[in-house]
Amino acid sequence: MQRVRKLSKTLLHALKGSFFQKGRMEAAQEAPEKPLLGFVDHIGCEHVHGWVMDPDAPGRRINVEVFLPETGESFGIGTADQFHHGISGIGDGSRRYGFWLQVKRALTQNEQKNVQVREVGGRGVPFSPHIGSWHPLLHVAMDIVDNCNLRCPFCLYDYRNVRKTNLMSRETLEAALRLLPYTRDGEFWFSCLHEPSLHPDLLAFLDAIPESMRKKVFFTSNIARRQSEAYFQGLAQSGIDHINISLESRRPEIYERMRKGARFPIFMENWDKLITAFHEANSAVALRYVIMAYKSNFQELPALTQYLVDERRAAQVEIRHTYDVPFIAPAFREQEFLTEEDWDWLHANLPTLEPGKLLLDRPPVDAPSVEGGESQNEVLPSSDVGFLPGQYLARLTWDGTLELKGISRASVGSSMIEVPILTKNIKEIDDIEGFFRSLHEVDVSRLSSGSLAI
Ligand SMILES: C[S@@+](CC[C@H](N)C(=O)[O-])C[C@H]1O[C@@H](n2cnc3c(N)ncnc32)[C@H](O)[C@@H]1O
Ligand code: SF4
Repeated sequence: MQRVRKLSKTLLHALKGSFFQKGRMEAAQEAPEKPLLGFVDHIGCEHVHGWVMDPDAPGRRINVEVFLPETGESFGIGTADQFHHGISGIGDGSRRYGFWLQVKRALTQNEQKNVQVREVGGRGVPFSPHIGSWHPLLHVAMDIVDNCNLRCPFCLYDYRNVRKTNLMSRETLEAALRLLPYTRDGEFWFSCLHEPSLHPDLLAFLDAIPESMRKKVFFTSNIARRQSEAYFQGLAQSGIDHINISLESRRPEIYERMRKGARFPIFMENWDKLITAFHEANSAVALRYVIMAYKSNFQELPALTQYLVDERRAAQVEIRHTYDVPFIAPAFREQEFLTEEDWDWLHANLPTLEPGKLLLDRPPVDAPSVEGGESQNEVLPSSDVGFLPGQYLARLTWDGTLELKGISRASVGSSMIEVPILTKNIKEIDDIEGFFRSLHEVDVSRLSSGSLAI
């Protein structure tokens, strides 16, 4: 599972200066000004949104205008002062450089191709490389089962009373896959809280994803359940974005203590089959590794990280602290959780890899406990201030239950406040596009106890 915490790809492009523009506009003033930092994320027929900041004056909030260069017609002016999820670490750190402009009249398709956005009377706002697609879903965190083969002592899901495994049906999957166009690459999860390899149709489910959408998908697995060569060959050829593999140690005893219920020799057998299949297929599916750091394994992690990169095709290694949940046994917490000094030691001893390849996810200072989910963002039961349009988080369970959350307008900086919007079965939504369009028109005062009929 990945949390929404990385810099957006669009932002990285912006920082590298490699962004695409429909036609850069010249600054109106003669004095050389730095280009604005930001992106127009999307131009719809009724709205235009994105974010923008003046690198010379990060405290200022820019007034932006949507206009048609050929005629000079203005379609609306607004202030770029709203929270935008994808821009942590920019400017004053508030992440409040977003804009969402409702245009004065519906734009024709041709106008959508030709309108531009500028600071009122000034510099242009560049276009995102993803400008052609509308991605209102920051992620879809789906599970195709509701159980796991293991019972890890740190697991953030409480399996104590779980006895049976429910499987997503093909019909539910197909209904869920209609959300694919609305997510970005690598943001449609085939697993969130549970173990996807428990589903006997996992490969067939991956095959059901349209080829052009495969890069949107990833899943996380413990690969501890014995699988055939054909299974791993299927994964190698699946064309999805990446697979996260979870492990804590190459020492059998530590591995089996952390991955309770797993057998190290079976894990190794699977892992070897996977690596062979990926080599043979010259697979483009990236392998990422997720390692939980504890007293038992942290001193092994510098060498393990290097091994994963050198021998096990690691495109990324993520070393994580435990997102603390109340049902983790106190004894495990006391014996295994690392101190600040241990994290400092790890930080100092991990190998230096190319940027982005190694993520050390240390516990935040005074981290609050969270329940039943991996996100450490605050979740409010309802909101007086409403949620931002066009930025939603979707959770989908095996039976198609869709829980949609928005981002509160009160969000600022690192505190992204999630607001429940509705719970509804995905199979009951006939018109997905219309469903998203209707969301930003929702009267937030009707929000109550997280459910809403749309
Ligand atoms: C919940 S698991 C589900 C997928 C699969 N069962 C697995 O473990 O790979 C998703 C990821 O979350 C990690 N994880 C489990 N419990 C965690 C916790 N309390 N804090 C942070 N990550 C955790 C797992 O190690 C795994 O990499
Ligand atoms: S394998 Fe994953 S889902 Fe299963 S118990 Fe361990 S962390 Fe939890």
